[in-house]
Amino acid sequence: MKTKILLSVVLILMFPCVVQGVLIEDWLIRTLLQDYNELAYPGTTDNETVVVKHDMTLLRIVEFDGTKLTIDAWLGTEWRDPRLCWASSPINIRLPISKIWTPDIVLYDNPDTRTRFTPNAIVDQSGLVYFSLPIRLEVDNCQQSHDEFKCTFKFGSWTFDGFKIDLQNRSRIIDLSNFQQHNSYEIIDTSVVRNVLYYTCCAEPYPDITYTVDLKQPKTGWFDRL
Ligand SMILES: *[C@@H]1O[C@H](CO)[C@@H](O)[C@H](O)[C@H]1NC(C)=O
Ligand SMILES: *[C@@H]1O[C@H](CO)[C@@H](O)[C@H](O)[C@H]1NC(C)=O
Repeated sequence: MKTKILLSVVLILMFPCVVQGVLIEDWLIRTLLQDYNELAYPGTTDNETVVVKHDMTLLRIVEFDGTKLTIDAWLGTEWRDPRLCWASSPINIRLPISKIWTPDIVLYDNPDTRTRFTPNAIVDQSGLVYFSLPIRLEVDNCQQSHDEFKCTFKFGSWTFDGFKIDLQNRSRIIDLSNFQQHNSYEIIDTSVVRNVLYYTCCAEPYPDITYTVDLKQPKTGWFDRL
């Protein structure tokens, strides 16, 4: 076994691939990430505010018991990082989010979100970074009025105030174009609201994006129609 490995190492050393032309991304990514510090947020001395935009695509209701709602969603996050700009082609590249700074936007109620998959971000020439995170989210704040239920998902930065991370909604709506109907509850309304909180102690704003999902059990359910 050992000699086999050794032999293949020798063969690889002896017969490297012939590369014709320049590898399109190789030099670019090495240059961009050479002195890149992924711990440093991309605020500058000219402007310390980084605008971070957030959106939600709702895929399915996993479970709902009247107060606790579990959903599968994609969370989109977008911002600009002036360290990741270039002038040549390609117009965009993909980088693992572990290699670059990312804003610490979390679900306030329940930040334990257990994502195993770490997606790539798409970075364009102007330094615009976007990634979409597939995630299972759970809240237990659903309020009932009559036969309707209202559940909210509130997102904000865990450590940055609004002077450093200005959190904004990337869309006016929750994207339902990929939503799979649930067999006992239907979504009758959704909303996206940006709130800004101030505390008496301090001057900084604390922005959040709150997504609301209104559910209802249809009167003529699947069983009634049988
Ligand atoms: C800093 O950037 C934010 C977001 O782009 C903008 O709203 C603000 O006016 C800028 N501040 C200064 C001092 O340029
Ligand atoms: C954010 O939400 C507000 C209020 O619904 C809306 O007017 C605005 O257009 C939204 N921003 C974007 C980028 O869609």
